[in-house]
Amino acid sequence: MLCEKYRDFTRWTIYQIYPRSFMDSNGDGIGDLRGIINKLDYIQDLGANAVWLCPCFSSPNDDNGYDVSDYTDIMEEFGTMADMDELISELHGRGMKLILDLVPNHTSTAHRWFQESRKGRDNPYSDFYCWFDEKPNDWESAFGGSAWEFDEMRGQYYLHSFAVSQADLNWDNPAVIKAMQDVIDFWVDKGADGFRIDVVDSISKDYSNNNRGKFGPHLHEYIRAMFGRENVSHIYTVGESNIHDIDELVRHCKADRGELSSVFIFEHMDCGRSDKFTPKQDSLKSLRDILIYWQDQAEKNDILYTLFTDNHDQPAMISRIGNDRELRYESATEIAAMLYLLKGVPFIYQGQEIGQAAAHYDDISCFDDVECLGAYRKLRRTLSEAETLEKVNFGSRDNARHPMPWDGSENHGFTTGTPWLLHHSRAGEINVEADLVSERSVYRFYQKLLKLRRENEAFLDGGLEVISRPEDSFIVYTRSLGDEKWAVVCNFEEGQEIKLPFECEAPALANCGRQTADGLYAPYECAAAKVIK
Ligand code: GLC
Ligand code: CA
Repeated sequence: MLCEKYRDFTRWTIYQIYPRSFMDSNGDGIGDLRGIINKLDYIQDLGANAVWLCPCFSSPNDDNGYDVSDYTDIMEEFGTMADMDELISELHGRGMKLILDLVPNHTSTAHRWFQESRKGRDNPYSDFYCWFDEKPNDWESAFGGSAWEFDEMRGQYYLHSFAVSQADLNWDNPAVIKAMQDVIDFWVDKGADGFRIDVVDSISKDYSNNNRGKFGPHLHEYIRAMFGRENVSHIYTVGESNIHDIDELVRHCKADRGELSSVFIFEHMDCGRSDKFTPKQDSLKSLRDILIYWQDQAEKNDILYTLFTDNHDQPAMISRIGNDRELRYESATEIAAMLYLLKGVPFIYQGQEIGQAAAHYDDISCFDDVECLGAYRKLRRTLSEAETLEKVNFGSRDNARHPMPWDGSENHGFTTGTPWLLHHSRAGEINVEADLVSERSVYRFYQKLLKLRRENEAFLDGGLEVISRPEDSFIVYTRSLGDEKWAVVCNFEEGQEIKLPFECEAPALANCGRQTADGLYAPYECAAAKVIK
């Protein structure tokens, strides 16, 4: 049984915004806070009651805000602190929550702390970063190349797990912990209701392992130092952590640990790919099996699970495991029904609610993402231009970062100027306006789904029973609480009709009207129906 606090969090539905690409209000081609304020009705109408903003703090933008140069100031292009205050009060006025993206593992090298630190070994910030005379290992940065950079001014190497301009903080220094506590308190005092914590698995380093030092010896101590404090005990936290085993998950987010409320489990993000840039034959069944495994583990261990498939680091899931052409609507709605009627906190990434698919471009100059440009250079050493482009198109994080297509006009309602990144190659076809007038609107399906979830406790707190077997190419599960029982069914395959082993009312949610009076569920149909007996 989830504790009271966690059960409350299952009532949150979190809409993730990539601020740079959501809505531009002043024509400079870059999304901003005012743009977000102007679109709050859209988010609320969908049924979300919380917003997670990817980093919106001062930054030179080498990694689009994940290289922070001042944690308590707003990125100039996004607006001002007054805009942020207004966004917070607009959200709270609607009974909505705000989740900020905290990046505790590294800062931009433009941050004042780094600028001071590099000056020498005897200033207050000298131990804020991971400095070494000799490289202690040969770690590679996540974006390619060595993770160690020699700094002429300091005369030492510093660690950068990501880009050269993202220097890792040294959490073994108590002053770093204190500085990050101050950042957290600053935003909680301003009204933030929670944080997503970027690469939290990396803050304590183990310089002797091959895993870029993840899950170091003091990890849990440092997480507790951030969130185990009385003044922040009410907030929601979700860590980005590459956890693959249940014991590690329990150590991160069992309620009595005073650490995180939840983490993003990574395993299902690899559905449909063998590495970030290489596709793998997978299907909705693969996703189903991973979800079922983790739901079960979460339930047995009273862990608050996160229900998500997409984010700003992945091309859309429907393009990897579904059919994003003829069956785009079906793929989008089936994934949603299968996922969001499980137990946990739903996360929806901007565009997912209109069935956003992967983009495609023919020239490397169309790409911006620091990770994919690094991969391009590396892959190009052994592959042809065409082969490399194919991989980059498949894996680039730009896929999820094109401006939100609000309509079919030239600039897709995102900006009156020139967008910072090209419009999505399918924006003419897939956009909010087109989706909303379509009879097969993904947005309207999401709306109904989230309403159903909100209005029936069984989906929030009820037990889960999976009826389908691993060999089936469908999923049927039930959620029940007291006398109330719901069946959820998603038929993944052509040529098969599914009959449920119990009698149900007419579906309260369905992605098509094909379900017949005799209770058969058609190929690609998904539905949720109340069980009669
Ligand atoms: C996380 C973010 C990603 C960023 C990286 C470095 O993985 O989601 O966008 O590039 O951390 O901060
Ligand atoms: Ca702008």
